[in-house]
Amino acid sequence: MNFNLSEEHLAVQEAARDFAQNELLPGIVERDNAQQFPAEQVKRMGELGFMGMMVSPEYGGGGMDTVSYAIAIEEISKIDASASVIMSVNNSLVCYGLEAFGTEEQKHKYLTPLASGQMIGAFCLSEPEAGSDATSQATTAEDMGDYYLVNGTKNWITNGNSSGVALVIAQTNREKGHRGINCLIVEKGTPGFVVGKKEDKLGIRASDTHSLLFTDVKVPKENRIGADGFGFKFAMSTLNGGRIGIAAQALGIAAGAYELALKYSQERKAFGKAIFEHQAIQFKLAEMATKIEAARLLVYKAARLKDEHKDYVQAAAMAKLFASDVAMWATTEAVQIHGGYGFVKEFHVERLMRDAKITQIYEGTSEIQKLVIAREIVR
Ligand code: CAA
Repeated sequence: MNFNLSEEHLAVQEAARDFAQNELLPGIVERDNAQQFPAEQVKRMGELGFMGMMVSPEYGGGGMDTVSYAIAIEEISKIDASASVIMSVNNSLVCYGLEAFGTEEQKHKYLTPLASGQMIGAFCLSEPEAGSDATSQATTAEDMGDYYLVNGTKNWITNGNSSGVALVIAQTNREKGHRGINCLIVEKGTPGFVVGKKEDKLGIRASDTHSLLFTDVKVPKENRIGADGFGFKFAMSTLNGGRIGIAAQALGIAAGAYELALKYSQERKAFGKAIFEHQAIQFKLAEMATKIEAARLLVYKAARLKDEHKDYVQAAAMAKLFASDVAMWATTEAVQIHGGYGFVKEFHVERLMRDAKITQIYEGTSEIQKLVIAREIVR
């Protein structure tokens, strides 16, 4: 296995790092406090090519590999995990899903604006009563001949308000179970499609998370992705890749907190020397560096397997499971190293600690990742 990053990977890393430092860091505490969607910054992410990194240039994307994508997500997440989840959902759930399974017409109409960042997408699977148990969809997409009639509620939708288009998973034929589920492309502004309540969250507060309400929404048949009944497979297949994005996000959150803690430990003095000189702090940082490197290798492995068109289901689940646990633990240690300063907002580590938690929950909880891994092991 080649552990070296290519020239192209290094260029992506530098571009993402510069963007995060220069354009995401200013105002980040204020955006987090006010739960303010980073509209200008997301526009810039589109201009810089971060919103459709893996999409073919034919549809306005960057044509890059998954490793480049993971590297960019890591760098952006070191500073701003709200921006990185907006980017991750758009890239790996919406754009990837459309490119892999959409029709040529769907790609030209929706993928091209999504990949260039002119429009943002949302992925709507979770419901008030269906999170981990994703086959229990209560939202219905009734087949009316040349259109579907959609009714139901989707919960905790990233980009809920800011998106121009939503991929909505809904049940068409309950008797067929998960094989009766469809995924429909629903445009914002379609009559009956309403953005519901904005969630007041613990972390990733600048991303806009909403419930979405559908009442007798007419969606043309040509907006169905794949064959009739393909919707659940579509959701699972896109989530496999999405989990690499969230694993990279967790890695970035952990690495960002580690970098801040390392710097602080060399500046802060206690008992006559920099706190880094105290073994208690050295050991924390040594353990953080080791676990973060292990998480990075798992993320790169999953990304490389995807790039080589090999089975990456287990690798993606392992990367997300491990990296999200490392993120939660490493950010907590970073707060501890900062002491009282770690508990206040201007030092950034408390935000990273709050942001870390969601990586153990969304795109499949840690418990679901263990289930996926266990099934793959016996398979
Ligand atoms: N890849 C491809 N196909 C898969 C799959 C995978 N990882 N996992 C399951 N499938 C397929 C199965 O092959 C099966 O299809 P067939 O019967 O045609 O062979 C079908 O899906 C149903 O699978 P199961 O019988 O295994 O279904 P289950 O109900 O026992 O378990 C589950 C499925 C793995 C628990 C699944 O429901 C799951 O992943 N749940 C978590 C949902 C999730 O990740 N939600 C995240 C919300 S999106 C989000 O967070 C985005 C955001 O905004 C950040």
